[in-house]
Amino acid sequence: MKKMKTILTAGALAVSAMSAVWFAGATQANEPGVIEFNEAEVSRILRHGPWPMKWSPDPSNRVSGNTHAVDLGERLFFDEKLSANDKVSCGTCHIAEYNWTDGVKRNQGLALVDRNTPTLMNMRHHRWFALDGAADSLWSQSIRPILDARELGSNAAHVAQYLRKDADLSCRYEKTFGISPSKQDDEAVLVGVGKVMAAFQETLTTEFTPFDQFRDALARGDKAAAGLYPRDARRGLQIFIGKGICSTCHTGPMFTNGEFHDIGVSHFIEGGSKKVDGGRHDGIKLLLGSKFNLLGPYNDDATRATATKTTHLKPERRNFGEFKVPSLRNVGYTGPYMHSGEMMTLEQVVRHYSELNIERLHTDGESLLRPLKLTQRESADLVAFLQTLNMDRAPPWRGKEYAMPPCTVGSKAVVEDNYAAP
Ligand code: HEC
Ligand code: HEC
Repeated sequence: MKKMKTILTAGALAVSAMSAVWFAGATQANEPGVIEFNEAEVSRILRHGPWPMKWSPDPSNRVSGNTHAVDLGERLFFDEKLSANDKVSCGTCHIAEYNWTDGVKRNQGLALVDRNTPTLMNMRHHRWFALDGAADSLWSQSIRPILDARELGSNAAHVAQYLRKDADLSCRYEKTFGISPSKQDDEAVLVGVGKVMAAFQETLTTEFTPFDQFRDALARGDKAAAGLYPRDARRGLQIFIGKGICSTCHTGPMFTNGEFHDIGVSHFIEGGSKKVDGGRHDGIKLLLGSKFNLLGPYNDDATRATATKTTHLKPERRNFGEFKVPSLRNVGYTGPYMHSGEMMTLEQVVRHYSELNIERLHTDGESLLRPLKLTQRESADLVAFLQTLNMDRAPPWRGKEYAMPPCTVGSKAVVEDNYAAP
């Protein structure tokens, strides 16, 4: 907890320095040189909200939104006993206090992994999971690190045995699913664990930001409130939705179209091996080969509507070097940046787009991207805008104070007890 405070203060300092400007700036809109957005720009800005977004439970996961599942999922997320050496949990790399990432380039479970740890914030609004989209549901993505030799290095038998032997966990499992883990086979229990972990992760969401406040003020036509938005962020926003074309990929309230693109980040995996990260191309192959995908037997959605997008996938040449467009909400807290974690700061990210080397783009055909050749001030403005996408305080997480009391065996399983979707 101590460590959390320090880290967040670093981020929070930048933001609170900014909020000072934000509140002092009430009269800015009337000052000369302050940007007024035209109608087309306003309509583009409005598309990045409102926040929070509507959400309804995931039909492919029958315990999505279930309070017992959330509770059990949270416990297992931090439980190192699921791993092969009793030392690694999901929380090793997805650290609440670090906005559910870890602040390092690449982290280590049982061994060093190939990619930067993404945040788990707002996962419930994603369509594809992992940076190469190798999973098509949050629950199947949650199974992958359990089995991956570099992460938890575990297997279905180990996980199932652990739950069966622990009376409290068994009881919670039974309350969630209506069946004891002792009456299910190992693989079914593993899938159950993935599903409760998904239910827990679905509760991790970012809050209203200075940008949202500005966006809603524009929507209401409230000039005085809109005038509070700092002017450097305002200029940066104009670049973001204008000549920077950032919002063609970083679209909507999540600031991502949820799809995959090549933006010319190196494809080599650091470490001298000259191993190449195949990105989305290899992700599609992994996804189609997985028995935990939405086409498989563990999808709880009887209509199978959730599997439609997966049915139409096939790896194509253009998918090499494509990675998922990250959400930019809380982006001030997700560094280092890019799938490889090779950029330490937002300034470096903006420089990447400004000085882009188009020869590094592997995309077939015409790419949208051109070097933006931004001036120093424009670059700083763009960063100032990105910083307004951060919540200005620590992620609201109660710590490991579980909502549920000790479990009593024999009580009726509660599966209809759903969270109200906000
Ligand atoms: C060793 C560090 C590490 C551990 C341990 C770990 N993760 Fe991750 N996580 C990552 C990395 C790296 C990625 C990106 C993976 C990729 O692109 O293939 C990731 C991706 C994810 C994603 C997808 C994020 C997105 O943007 O699509 C989810 C969800 C996730 N992890 C959940 C979990 C859960 C649940 C556990 C525990 C069972 C876990 N992780 C354990 C490092 C880790
Ligand atoms: C063609 C689509 C596209 C456009 C246009 C685009 N981006 Fe991105 N952006 C991506 C993709 C894809 C990644 C992830 C690349 C990777 O992981 O290697 C990314 C990564 C980022 C990141 C790092 C986020 C993180 O958590 O790692 C930031 C910040 C960012 N973009 C901001 C911008 C800005 C600012 C602009 C406009 C100057 C912009 N993007 C234009 C697709 C795009």
